[in-house]
Amino acid sequence: MCFFTVREMGATVQCVLSVAEGLVSAQMVKFANGISKESFVDVEGVVSVPKAPITGASQQVEIQVRKIYCVNRAAPVLPISIEDASRSEAEIESSLELGEPLVRVNQDTRLNNRVLDIRTPANQAIFSLESDVLRLFSQFLWKSGFRQICTPKLTAGTSEGGAAVFRLEYKKQPACLAQSPQLHKQMAICGDFQRVFVVGPVFRAEDSYTHRHLCEFTGLDVEMEIKWHYSEVMDIVDSLFVNMFDKINEECQEALEAISKQYPFKPLKYLRKTLRLTFEEGIQMLKDAGIEVDPLGDLNTETERTLGKLVLEKYDTEFYILHRYPLAVRPFYTMPCPDNPAYSNSFDVFIRGEEIISGAQRVHMPEMLETRAAQCGIDVKTISTYIDSFRYGAPPHGGFGVGLERVVMLFCGLDNIRKTSLFPRDPRRLEP
Ligand code: 4AD
Repeated sequence: MCFFTVREMGATVQCVLSVAEGLVSAQMVKFANGISKESFVDVEGVVSVPKAPITGASQQVEIQVRKIYCVNRAAPVLPISIEDASRSEAEIESSLELGEPLVRVNQDTRLNNRVLDIRTPANQAIFSLESDVLRLFSQFLWKSGFRQICTPKLTAGTSEGGAAVFRLEYKKQPACLAQSPQLHKQMAICGDFQRVFVVGPVFRAEDSYTHRHLCEFTGLDVEMEIKWHYSEVMDIVDSLFVNMFDKINEECQEALEAISKQYPFKPLKYLRKTLRLTFEEGIQMLKDAGIEVDPLGDLNTETERTLGKLVLEKYDTEFYILHRYPLAVRPFYTMPCPDNPAYSNSFDVFIRGEEIISGAQRVHMPEMLETRAAQCGIDVKTISTYIDSFRYGAPPHGGFGVGLERVVMLFCGLDNIRKTSLFPRDPRRLEP
C-alpha cells in the first residue's frame, strides 16, 4: 500500500494506492512511493469513505487511486517544508516544552522561498481574503456611482512630498514613481468625473524598516465631489467598511478559520455607525490618561496604539475615525478648517490602533494651492499642470487612500505587513 496527500489551493485529501484491492499494480505503488513531496501530480481515482479512520485527519473521505501521473517532479530536498511553515507559534512553543523541538521557519526564510511558503493553508487564506477585500471594495463603489480609473505611475513630481520618493530618469528628464494617485484622481474630478476610485501600486522610498511599512504597496484610492462638508467622505468610509467587514464575516468564514488556526486572532469589534472623534477629543483622552502630546503635532505609532486601547475601553470598538487634524501635519493639498486654519478638514481611520486610511477635503482654489505647496517646500513648477487643472472650474471635493495590505493585516490581527504582501518590497528586499 501507499498513502499520500494531494493539495489544491490549500485544501487537502488523502489518497490510497492498494495492491491488495487489485486496483493498481505493485509497480505503480513503487512509482508513487518514489514521487518527491510537492511534485505536481494528476490523480485518477474514486472518492470513497475510508474503511479505517484516517489517523490524525479530520476528513471523511479519501481517494482510492486507479492511476497517478507525475506531471512535474519537485526537487527531492526542499528549502522549507510546508508542514513546518504551517505550524502555529503555540504548537512550536509546546514542542519546546516537551523537549521535541519543531522547526520554526523564520520570516526571511519564508520570503526567500515565497512560492513554497504561500502553499500553507493560512497563506492561501490570507491571499484569498485579500482578493475578497479588493472585490468588496470595488463592488461597493461601483454600486455607489463611482467609476474605476487608472492613473500613471510615472510622474514628474511628488504628490506626498518628503524624501520618500523613488527618483528615476524618464527620457533624460527627472521623474519619480507615483507616491499615490492623489494628483491625478483629483484631476479626474476636475474633468467632471464626480466620483472615482483607483486600485494600483504605490511607491514609497521608506527608509525605516518597520512592521507596517513597505516600499511598494497596493493603494485603494477614492475621490469625490462634495456638496457641503467633508463628512460626506467619512460617510462613504463608514458605509464602505462596515459593509466590507460584514461581508467578510458572512462569506469568508473558512479563510478566517484557516488564518486563525496558525495565527490566532479575535474578531474585529466595530460599530454599526463608525465612531468619529475629533483630533482634539483624542488628545484630551490621552491627556486624561496621563499622556501629554503636542496638540498641534502628529500622533506617533505608540500614541496611536494607546488611543486605540482607550477608544476600545470607552466605546467598545476597534475601528474608528479621527478627524480635524492639525493642518501642519497634513499634505499641501489638504483644506484648512474654515473656522480655525490651525486645523484641517482631514481624517485618519484606525483598526486596532493602527492607521489604515488617510483622507481629507482638498483645496480646489489654484492660488491657495500654490501658496500651500510653496509653504510645504514643494517646487510648484513640478506640479504646474495639476494646479492649472483648478483654473478651469473645479468642484469642492475630497477623498481618501487605503493601504490594502494594512487592512488585511489589521483585520486579522497579524503582526507584520509582509504576511499580507505576496512578494513584499521593503528597504532590504527586492527579491523574489
Ligand atoms: O497616508 P497616506 O500617505 O495618504 C495618501 O497617500 C493620500 N494621498 C491619501 C488621500 O487620499 N488623502 O497613505 C494612505 C494609506 C495609509 O493610511 C496606509 O494605510 C497606507 O496608505 N500606507 C502604507 N502602507 C504600506 N506601506 C507604506 N509605506 C505605506 N504608506 C502609507
